[in-house]
Amino acid sequence: MQTLKDSFGRTFPYIRLSITDVCNFKCGYCLPNGYQIDKSDNRKFLHLEEVRRLAKALSELGVNKIRLTGGEPTVRKDFFDIIKTIKENSGIKKTVITTNGYHLDKIANQIKESGLDGINISIDSLNRETFKIITGHDRLDEILRGIKVLQSLNFKNIKINAVLLKGINDSENDFNQWSNFIQVNKIDFRYIELMQTGDNLDYFKKYHISATKFTDYLNKNNWIIQTFGRDAGPAKNYLNPKFEGKFGVIAPYSKDFCKNCNRLRITAKGDLRLCLFGNTGINIRHLMQKDEQLDELKDLILKQLNFKKESHYLELGETGLTKNLSTTGG
Ligand code: 5AD
Ligand code: SF4
Repeated sequence: MQTLKDSFGRTFPYIRLSITDVCNFKCGYCLPNGYQIDKSDNRKFLHLEEVRRLAKALSELGVNKIRLTGGEPTVRKDFFDIIKTIKENSGIKKTVITTNGYHLDKIANQIKESGLDGINISIDSLNRETFKIITGHDRLDEILRGIKVLQSLNFKNIKINAVLLKGINDSENDFNQWSNFIQVNKIDFRYIELMQTGDNLDYFKKYHISATKFTDYLNKNNWIIQTFGRDAGPAKNYLNPKFEGKFGVIAPYSKDFCKNCNRLRITAKGDLRLCLFGNTGINIRHLMQKDEQLDELKDLILKQLNFKKESHYLELGETGLTKNLSTTGG
């Protein structure tokens, strides 16, 4: 079998596929004014058949895991059909999603039935008011209820992500809240350091804080960094035997962050993105139109990988094509 490998020896068993740019939340760092249609680009989001062909090509290139993202992937009416078509037609071993968790209480049963292999839920704060301020929605309760339903159905792979924001969710009290949460829940919780995008410069200046604020807390409280593990990608995980869940940190500005990069991204309109912040992104959709194009599609993806750069150069203030993360799903 062919495998996806770049010129720095990194392999790519993992793809993040956005299936829509639409999101119903208004997170301050991403879509503070809510989702707006991009009038300069009238292309539709990838349809079901295109996703089916793409997943098959990727699987034949050695990809074993696809993460569906958005925007908010569950806003798509055919969301569960997409999961089904990937699971039934492609040979991809794991299909997982990243969601903002809205209406999770209503769809938890369907999620379990769909056979989805994992779910990452974004919850920036366990405090109802803070959650509302960050996302523009008073929906923390329905998300937490949804998680309980998933747990009661014995759904296994639940993770929670929060973006670390200075003065908003970075206090010892915030960290303790999460600590109490993962003490009794077998759920991994990770803070992501706020990233600068094309749209959020002022927000970034105001709220960016280094993830060391959180890792200092972890060190102080006897969390032990996990030095091994497959598939970890850019996250650093911390263990503590007294806890059901793990802590983790994603610190994109840290030295060597890109060394473990194991992901490529495909946008909801079929652009292959080699790096979240790269300027390289070509459209591969024209080769998703017929089953007979499978080999051509695989060839194009393979060739593109040669252009993947060593690092994102974010520290130089380069944000690449990324206006905000709603088009590429974080
Ligand atoms: N910096 C860091 N994380 C972000 N996300 C969205 N925008 C940013 C940003 N600018 C996160 C979301 C979600 C994941 C998909 O990406 O909160 O957890
Ligand atoms: Fe929506 Fe996610 Fe952006 Fe928040 S971060 S507005 S949930 S796409």
